[in-house]
Amino acid sequence: MASLLGSADASTSPASDAYFETFQELRGRFGYEFMYVSIIILILATYWVGKKHNEVLAKTTMAVMLPLFRANFARVGDNGAELAIDAPHEYIIYLTGRRHVATVHGLIKMKPRQDLIRTLLTFFSSPVQDTCTLNVTMNPNEYSDGVFAIVPKATGTSVRNKYYDLSTFSKASNQKTLDSALITLTESNELTEAILPLVGDKLNKAAQWLDYFVVSDQPSFKPEKVPTEPFPKRISLSFRLPNARHSREIVPLVEALIACLDGLAENCHVTALTKAKISKAREDAGKEIGKKAQAERAREQEEKRLREKREQEKNLSPDAQRKLAAKEEKRAIKKRQKAVVKKA
Ligand SMILES: *[C@@H]1O[C@H](CO)[C@@H](O)[C@H](O)[C@H]1NC(C)=O
Repeated sequence: MASLLGSADASTSPASDAYFETFQELRGRFGYEFMYVSIIILILATYWVGKKHNEVLAKTTMAVMLPLFRANFARVGDNGAELAIDAPHEYIIYLTGRRHVATVHGLIKMKPRQDLIRTLLTFFSSPVQDTCTLNVTMNPNEYSDGVFAIVPKATGTSVRNKYYDLSTFSKASNQKTLDSALITLTESNELTEAILPLVGDKLNKAAQWLDYFVVSDQPSFKPEKVPTEPFPKRISLSFRLPNARHSREIVPLVEALIACLDGLAENCHVTALTKAKISKAREDAGKEIGKKAQAERAREQEEKRLREKREQEKNLSPDAQRKLAAKEEKRAIKKRQKAVVKKA
């Protein structure tokens, strides 16, 4: 331990000592301990600096959103903390207590700057971004069902493909009133006419940071079973974070989200015809899910049957097993012949 400490001292002030002119000399003097200790110091320094960097970014981002949150929600945060840390690169936002809204769950997710290994690994995978996502669960039945989104043109297709509701129900279209970098994904022109005026100008102001803005009555990932009750209605906003000095740039995006809280209940009511169309689309999607669930059940039953059969066969005498195999083969040949006849 004494030598470990000794080399740690040396590595913090190596330059001051003319004796250690090269790394090789250092290693010769201290062996591999010097290397190990340097790596440990590097990991610890990365942890400390990275954690601090992320903390500042998360807190600054929250600080620019906080006045909007406080003005609109009776409760900001949980257990006394407005922003809860979940990991050194993940901070949780929770809001509740507002007309038309059930809850808001948010997450500020940043690069894992505190983690040297993961940071190095991200150089080889797709780049990780600093993002903030706000998911609003709205009260049911206060405005029309439907799927509407505003996304960047450049990433719109991949966003649409990633989410079940967008890919199943919406189509892309250009809008004159939107920034040229943005497009809408919408289920109906009537939805676009109702929602775009609420948010368009605000999203235009910070178009460069937007990942997606979604109003939806359908889940973002494909359900496994046919639903027995309506899905919760939601608004989701996701954006990338500017660095802490420019955090204010994202404020118009959050303002757009806030504008929808009252705006949807006031403005988003489609005509009976469109309502019927939207409802039909959900029925069709439900049938699709039902069919798939049924096929899945049938497959599971078949697998179970085969498993049980194999179990039974294992318990037979060798002679009986041989007889069974012969019988099965005959049956298989007959089946093939029948198939050939059918084709002919
Ligand atoms: C927000 O919703 C998206 C899509 O449903 C989901 O992937 C994400 O985990 C949610 N985030 C939070 C913080 O709830």
